Amino acid sequence: MTSNKIIPVDTETLNMPVRANWQYWAAGGIFMLLNKLRHDFQGYVTPRTFSIDDVNKAIEYDFSVVNSWRYYLNSYVGESVSLEERTVMELGPGADLGIGTILVALGVRKYCALDVHNLVENVEDKFYEALLERIEKNKISNISIDVLREQLSLTSSGKNDKINYVCDPEFNLGNFKEEGVDLVFSQAAFEHFDDIPKTFEQMTEVVKPGAVLLAEIDLSTHTRWLRDVDPLNIYRYSSWYYNLTKFRGSPNRMLPSEYKTILEDLGWRNVKIIPRRVLDNSYVGRVLPVLPGKFKCAHNDLVNHSVILAATR
Ligand SMILES: C[S@@+](CC[C@H](N)C(=O)[O-])C[C@H]1O[C@@H](n2cnc3c(N)ncnc32)[C@H](O)[C@@H]1O
Repeated sequence: MTSNKIIPVDTETLNMPVRANWQYWAAGGIFMLLNKLRHDFQGYVTPRTFSIDDVNKAIEYDFSVVNSWRYYLNSYVGESVSLEERTVMELGPGADLGIGTILVALGVRKYCALDVHNLVENVEDKFYEALLERIEKNKISNISIDVLREQLSLTSSGKNDKINYVCDPEFNLGNFKEEGVDLVFSQAAFEHFDDIPKTFEQMTEVVKPGAVLLAEIDLSTHTRWLRDVDPLNIYRYSSWYYNLTKFRGSPNRMLPSEYKTILEDLGWRNVKIIPRRVLDNSYVGRVLPVLPGKFKCAHNDLVNHSVILAATR
């Protein structure tokens, strides 16, 4: 098997402009109400900043996610981990099955993916054709492109073989209890889950002993403009106001240390929180003292814009 080159991913530090806390508080409060209204009328809209019609960008994104997972997986385990013959489960795969297709090309035994929204059903064939062309050009697959195309066609007709995509409004991981999962991956999705303790309990039941979890969690505000200027905006509000404007899929405000405790209580070991993107300290120092409740004292958690959560069953 030829494998694609894994490019090291460095931790980035982000710099934010200075504005008064009350200005961000007022702006964020209004945006949250507008987002709730938009969600109530329009339903779930993925926060991804580009459309699937931007085929090249979507393909680049899928490759970059797989690349980042493999990089962090190898550095977490301490050696190069082959994906061949592994059963992978992705939680919250989002807009397309590009990642699943790349993982099958890399030799996984099976790719199982669970979502509450079927965001992949309207993806046009031109996206997968361009992706297959890229896989062939990059020579990352020992499996023929025709076999990959056939797998995608089986999936789109509701059958599963190497790609098992399940959309379940209950988000029940028990859908994969017969699969024997070796690796759990997730990208920018855990922060949207409704009930992390329940999801982690189910995950614990469907994975094999020794399975590894590797998930990038985006801790920052998701609203576009605010995300760049005030990433900690979502933590500025009391539970009362946050719950008032909450909808299914809005960030759950779970802290990295809380994910870690839940996993450890369920018997997962070597649970690590690896900073992926960190906020600049002067911004965190200005915002933290005005945050309510537990967030005020959560410096070690909230200094991160995003983290990699890694653990072993
Ligand atoms: C920001 S998207 C990330 C998607 C993809 N992993 C990516 O990187 O583009 C969040 C994902 O979480 C899923 N999601 C949203 N709300 C959810 C919920 N309450 N329970 C489970 N999944 C949810 C969405 O359907 C979507 O797949």
